[in-house]
Amino acid sequence: MAMCSTFYPRLSTHLNCKSFSLFPVKHRFFVSIKAFSSQTFAPKADDLPASIGFLGLGIMGNPMAQNLIKAGCDVTVWNRTKSKCEPLISLGAKYKSSPEEVAASCDVTFAMLADPESAVDVACGKYGASKGMGPGKGYVDVSTVDGETSKLICEHIRATGAHFLEAPVSGSKKPAEDGQLIFLTAGDSVLYEKAAPLLDIMGKVSFCLFTECDAIFPPSNILAFISVKILPW
Ligand SMILES: NC(=O)c1ccc[n+]([C@@H]2O[C@H](COP(=O)([O-])OP(=O)(O)OC[C@H]3O[C@@H](n4cnc5c(N)ncnc54)[C@H](OP(=O)(O)O)[C@@H]3O)[C@@H](O)[C@H]2O)c1
Repeated sequence: MAMCSTFYPRLSTHLNCKSFSLFPVKHRFFVSIKAFSSQTFAPKADDLPASIGFLGLGIMGNPMAQNLIKAGCDVTVWNRTKSKCEPLISLGAKYKSSPEEVAASCDVTFAMLADPESAVDVACGKYGASKGMGPGKGYVDVSTVDGETSKLICEHIRATGAHFLEAPVSGSKKPAEDGQLIFLTAGDSVLYEKAAPLLDIMGKVSFCLFTECDAIFPPSNILAFISVKILPW
Protein backbone atom coordinates (compact mmCIF):
# COMPACT_ATOMS: atom_id res chain seq x y z
CA MET A 1 0.00 0.00 0.00
CA ALA A 2 1.24 3.47 -0.78
CA MET A 3 2.10 5.67 2.15
CA CYS A 4 -0.61 8.32 2.39
CA SER A 5 -0.78 11.06 4.95
CA THR A 6 -2.50 14.38 5.40
CA PHE A 7 0.43 16.71 5.11
CA TYR A 8 -0.60 20.30 4.69
CA PRO A 9 0.39 21.51 8.16
CA ARG A 10 3.86 19.97 7.75
CA LEU A 11 4.46 20.67 4.10
CA SER A 12 5.98 24.09 4.50
CA THR A 13 9.06 22.70 6.18
CA HIS A 14 9.02 19.42 4.30
CA LEU A 15 8.97 20.88 0.79
CA ASN A 16 9.93 24.51 1.36
CA CYS A 17 6.38 25.59 0.66
CA LYS A 18 5.54 29.18 1.53
CA SER A 19 1.90 29.57 0.55
CA PHE A 20 -0.18 26.81 2.04
CA SER A 21 -2.09 29.07 4.40
CA LEU A 22 -4.02 30.29 1.34
CA PHE A 23 -6.03 27.06 1.35
CA PRO A 24 -9.09 26.66 3.58
CA VAL A 25 -8.62 24.01 6.25
CA LYS A 26 -11.30 21.81 4.64
CA HIS A 27 -9.07 21.03 1.69
CA ARG A 28 -7.00 17.95 2.34
CA PHE A 29 -3.77 17.01 0.64
CA PHE A 30 -2.25 13.61 0.41
CA VAL A 31 1.19 12.61 -0.63
CA SER A 32 2.16 9.12 -1.65
CA ILE A 33 5.87 8.56 -1.78
CA LYS A 34 7.58 5.40 -2.96
CA ALA A 35 11.18 4.81 -2.11
CA PHE A 36 13.55 4.53 -5.06
CA SER A 37 14.05 0.88 -4.23
CA SER A 38 10.95 -0.79 -5.64
CA GLN A 39 11.38 -3.59 -3.10
CA THR A 40 10.86 -1.38 -0.06
CA PHE A 41 7.25 -0.40 -0.66
CA ALA A 42 6.30 -2.85 -3.38
CA PRO A 43 2.49 -3.07 -3.35
CA LYS A 44 1.08 -6.43 -2.30
CA ALA A 45 -1.15 -8.17 -4.83
CA ASP A 46 -4.06 -7.83 -2.37
CA ASP A 47 -3.80 -4.03 -2.48
CA LEU A 48 -4.27 -3.79 -6.23
CA PRO A 49 -7.57 -3.29 -8.09
CA ALA A 50 -8.59 -6.61 -9.65
CA SER A 51 -8.60 -5.44 -13.26
CA ILE A 52 -6.91 -2.47 -14.90
CA GLY A 53 -7.61 -0.90 -18.27
CA PHE A 54 -5.05 1.04 -20.28
CA LEU A 55 -6.05 3.25 -23.23
CA GLY A 56 -3.34 4.81 -25.40
CA LEU A 57 -0.12 2.90 -25.96
CA GLY A 58 2.23 5.53 -27.34
CA ILE A 59 5.71 6.49 -26.16
CA MET A 60 4.49 6.88 -22.57
CA GLY A 61 1.50 4.56 -22.39
CA ASN A 62 3.30 1.50 -23.69
CA PRO A 63 6.01 1.31 -20.98
CA MET A 64 3.55 2.34 -18.27
CA ALA A 65 1.20 -0.50 -19.22
CA GLN A 66 4.17 -2.86 -19.50
CA ASN A 67 5.23 -2.08 -15.95
CA LEU A 68 1.74 -2.87 -14.66
CA ILE A 69 1.74 -6.20 -16.51
CA LYS A 70 5.25 -7.06 -15.29
CA ALA A 71 4.12 -6.30 -11.72
CA GLY A 72 1.47 -8.99 -12.10
CA CYS A 73 -1.58 -6.80 -12.73
CA ASP A 74 -4.51 -8.02 -14.80
CA VAL A 75 -4.34 -5.44 -17.62
CA THR A 76 -6.70 -4.94 -20.57
CA VAL A 77 -5.44 -2.65 -23.35
CA TRP A 78 -6.85 -0.66 -26.25
CA ASN A 79 -5.10 1.59 -28.75
CA ARG A 80 -6.42 3.36 -31.87
CA THR A 81 -3.70 1.61 -33.88
CA LYS A 82 -4.29 -1.97 -32.84
CA SER A 83 -0.81 -3.23 -33.81
CA LYS A 84 0.66 -1.31 -30.85
CA CYS A 85 -1.30 -3.63 -28.53
CA GLU A 86 0.51 -6.74 -29.78
CA PRO A 87 3.70 -6.45 -27.65
CA LEU A 88 1.54 -6.02 -24.55
CA ILE A 89 -0.74 -8.89 -25.45
CA SER A 90 2.35 -11.06 -25.82
CA LEU A 91 3.31 -10.05 -22.25
CA GLY A 92 -0.08 -11.20 -21.00
CA ALA A 93 -2.45 -8.28 -21.51
CA LYS A 94 -6.05 -8.79 -22.60
CA TYR A 95 -7.43 -6.79 -25.53
CA LYS A 96 -10.80 -5.09 -26.09
CA SER A 97 -11.82 -3.37 -29.28
CA SER A 98 -13.06 -0.06 -27.81
CA PRO A 99 -12.47 2.20 -24.79
CA GLU A 100 -16.08 1.45 -23.78
CA GLU A 101 -15.39 -2.28 -23.60
CA VAL A 102 -12.18 -1.77 -21.67
CA ALA A 103 -13.90 0.45 -19.09
CA ALA A 104 -16.82 -1.96 -18.82
CA SER A 105 -14.49 -4.86 -18.02
CA CYS A 106 -12.10 -3.09 -15.64
CA ASP A 107 -12.19 -1.60 -12.13
CA VAL A 108 -9.77 1.21 -12.89
CA THR A 109 -8.99 2.49 -16.39
CA PHE A 110 -5.98 4.66 -17.25
CA ALA A 111 -5.82 6.85 -20.35
CA MET A 112 -2.59 8.20 -21.86
CA LEU A 113 -3.62 10.14 -24.97
CA ALA A 114 -1.80 12.58 -27.19
CA ASP A 115 -3.78 15.78 -26.63
CA PRO A 116 -7.10 17.27 -25.40
CA GLU A 117 -9.00 16.21 -28.54
CA SER A 118 -7.98 12.57 -28.32
CA ALA A 119 -8.44 12.54 -24.53
CA VAL A 120 -12.04 13.80 -24.91
CA ASP A 121 -12.77 11.48 -27.83
CA VAL A 122 -11.51 8.39 -26.02
CA ALA A 123 -13.30 9.31 -22.77
CA CYS A 124 -16.55 10.83 -24.06
CA GLY A 125 -16.94 9.74 -27.71
CA LYS A 126 -19.44 7.29 -29.19
CA TYR A 127 -17.60 4.20 -27.95
CA GLY A 128 -15.74 6.16 -25.31
CA ALA A 129 -14.75 4.94 -21.87
CA SER A 130 -17.56 6.82 -20.11
CA LYS A 131 -20.07 4.55 -21.88
CA GLY A 132 -18.58 1.62 -20.00
CA MET A 133 -18.17 3.35 -16.63
CA GLY A 134 -20.45 3.10 -13.63
CA PRO A 135 -20.51 3.11 -9.81
CA GLY A 136 -17.49 1.44 -8.26
CA LYS A 137 -15.28 2.08 -11.28
CA GLY A 138 -12.58 4.71 -11.74
CA TYR A 139 -11.05 6.63 -14.65
CA VAL A 140 -7.53 8.02 -14.31
CA ASP A 141 -6.47 10.38 -17.08
CA VAL A 142 -2.68 10.51 -17.11
CA SER A 143 -2.55 12.54 -20.34
CA THR A 144 -1.37 16.14 -20.20
CA VAL A 145 -4.46 18.24 -20.92
CA ASP A 146 -5.77 21.69 -20.02
CA GLY A 147 -8.14 22.31 -17.12
CA GLU A 148 -11.26 22.75 -19.23
CA THR A 149 -10.66 19.43 -20.97
CA SER A 150 -10.08 17.69 -17.69
CA LYS A 151 -13.28 19.19 -16.26
CA LEU A 152 -15.28 18.03 -19.26
CA ILE A 153 -13.98 14.47 -18.97
CA CYS A 154 -14.51 14.54 -15.21
CA GLU A 155 -18.17 15.54 -15.70
CA HIS A 156 -18.79 12.69 -18.17
CA ILE A 157 -17.18 10.14 -15.88
CA ARG A 158 -18.86 11.33 -12.68
CA ALA A 159 -22.25 11.43 -14.45
CA THR A 160 -22.05 7.62 -14.64
CA GLY A 161 -21.49 7.31 -10.89
CA ALA A 162 -17.80 6.46 -11.39
CA HIS A 163 -14.84 8.33 -9.90
CA PHE A 164 -12.35 10.52 -11.72
CA LEU A 165 -8.71 11.41 -11.17
CA GLU A 166 -6.54 13.58 -13.37
CA ALA A 167 -2.94 12.51 -13.05
CA PRO A 168 -0.58 14.19 -15.52
CA VAL A 169 2.98 12.92 -15.32
CA SER A 170 6.35 14.55 -15.06
CA GLY A 171 8.99 12.48 -16.84
CA SER A 172 9.68 11.10 -20.29
CA LYS A 173 10.19 7.77 -22.07
CA LYS A 174 13.08 6.53 -19.89
CA PRO A 175 11.44 7.31 -16.52
CA ALA A 176 8.27 5.70 -17.87
CA GLU A 177 10.27 2.57 -18.72
CA ASP A 178 11.99 2.60 -15.32
CA GLY A 179 8.81 3.19 -13.30
CA GLN A 180 10.19 6.54 -12.16
CA LEU A 181 7.47 8.96 -13.25
CA ILE A 182 6.06 11.67 -10.99
CA PHE A 183 2.26 11.93 -10.83
CA LEU A 184 0.47 15.15 -9.93
CA THR A 185 -3.06 14.01 -9.28
CA ALA A 186 -6.33 15.66 -8.37
CA GLY A 187 -9.91 14.51 -8.22
CA ASP A 188 -11.75 11.90 -6.17
CA SER A 189 -9.73 10.85 -3.13
CA VAL A 190 -11.38 7.43 -3.00
CA LEU A 191 -9.99 6.72 -6.46
CA TYR A 192 -6.56 8.02 -5.52
CA GLU A 193 -6.45 5.59 -2.63
CA LYS A 194 -7.41 2.77 -4.99
CA ALA A 195 -4.98 3.82 -7.72
CA ALA A 196 -2.01 4.77 -5.51
CA PRO A 197 -0.44 1.26 -5.55
CA LEU A 198 -0.64 1.35 -9.35
CA LEU A 199 0.93 4.81 -9.49
CA ASP A 200 3.66 3.41 -7.25
CA ILE A 201 4.38 0.75 -9.86
CA MET A 202 4.60 3.30 -12.69
CA GLY A 203 6.22 6.12 -10.78
CA LYS A 204 8.46 7.10 -7.90
CA VAL A 205 6.19 9.68 -6.28
CA SER A 206 2.61 10.85 -6.52
CA PHE A 207 0.79 13.81 -5.03
CA CYS A 208 -2.97 13.83 -4.61
CA LEU A 209 -4.92 17.00 -4.10
CA PHE A 210 -8.64 16.99 -3.80
CA THR A 211 -11.34 19.34 -2.80
CA GLU A 212 -14.98 19.17 -1.88
CA CYS A 213 -15.50 22.38 -3.84
CA ASP A 214 -14.56 21.85 -7.48
CA ALA A 215 -16.27 25.08 -8.54
CA ILE A 216 -13.63 27.08 -6.68
CA PHE A 217 -10.65 24.80 -7.14
CA PRO A 218 -10.95 22.61 -10.22
CA PRO A 219 -8.22 19.94 -10.09
CA SER A 220 -6.11 21.49 -12.85
CA ASN A 221 -6.06 24.85 -11.11
CA ILE A 222 -4.76 23.18 -7.98
CA LEU A 223 -2.12 21.40 -10.01
CA ALA A 224 -1.02 24.65 -11.60
CA PHE A 225 -0.72 26.20 -8.14
CA ILE A 226 1.17 23.25 -6.74
CA SER A 227 3.58 22.95 -9.62
CA VAL A 228 4.46 26.62 -9.39
CA LYS A 229 4.56 27.05 -5.62
CA ILE A 230 5.38 23.75 -4.06
CA LEU A 231 7.10 21.09 -6.09
CA PRO A 232 10.83 21.16 -5.50
CA TRP A 233 11.88 20.79 -9.16
N1 LIG B 1 6.62 11.77 -24.45
C1 LIG B 1 6.97 12.39 -23.31
O1 LIG B 1 8.17 12.52 -22.99
C2 LIG B 1 5.91 12.91 -22.37
C3 LIG B 1 6.28 13.34 -21.09
C4 LIG B 1 5.32 13.77 -20.20
C5 LIG B 1 3.99 13.82 -20.58
N2 LIG B 1 3.65 13.45 -21.84
C6 LIG B 1 2.22 13.49 -22.21
O2 LIG B 1 1.76 12.16 -22.30
C7 LIG B 1 0.75 12.07 -23.29
C8 LIG B 1 1.11 10.98 -24.28
O3 LIG B 1 2.35 11.30 -24.84
P1 LIG B 1 3.13 10.24 -25.75
O4 LIG B 1 4.52 10.77 -25.87
O5 LIG B 1 2.93 8.87 -25.25
O6 LIG B 1 2.39 10.44 -27.15
P2 LIG B 1 2.35 9.47 -28.40
O7 LIG B 1 3.51 8.55 -28.42
O8 LIG B 1 2.12 10.34 -29.58
O9 LIG B 1 1.03 8.59 -28.12
C9 LIG B 1 -0.21 9.21 -28.19
C10 LIG B 1 -1.30 8.20 -27.98
O10 LIG B 1 -2.55 8.85 -28.25
C11 LIG B 1 -3.25 8.10 -29.24
N3 LIG B 1 -4.08 8.97 -30.04
C12 LIG B 1 -3.72 10.10 -30.70
N4 LIG B 1 -4.79 10.65 -31.31
C13 LIG B 1 -5.84 9.84 -31.04
C14 LIG B 1 -7.21 9.87 -31.38
N5 LIG B 1 -7.74 10.85 -32.14
N6 LIG B 1 -8.02 8.89 -30.93
C15 LIG B 1 -7.51 7.89 -30.16
N7 LIG B 1 -6.21 7.80 -29.81
C16 LIG B 1 -5.40 8.77 -30.24
C17 LIG B 1 -2.17 7.43 -30.05
O11 LIG B 1 -2.74 6.35 -30.77
P3 LIG B 1 -2.02 5.79 -32.10
O12 LIG B 1 -0.97 4.85 -31.63
O13 LIG B 1 -3.14 5.15 -32.85
O14 LIG B 1 -1.45 6.98 -32.82
C18 LIG B 1 -1.21 7.00 -28.96
O15 LIG B 1 -1.68 5.87 -28.27
C19 LIG B 1 0.61 13.46 -23.90
O16 LIG B 1 -0.46 14.12 -23.26
C20 LIG B 1 1.93 14.11 -23.55
O17 LIG B 1 1.82 15.51 -23.46
C21 LIG B 1 4.56 12.97 -22.74
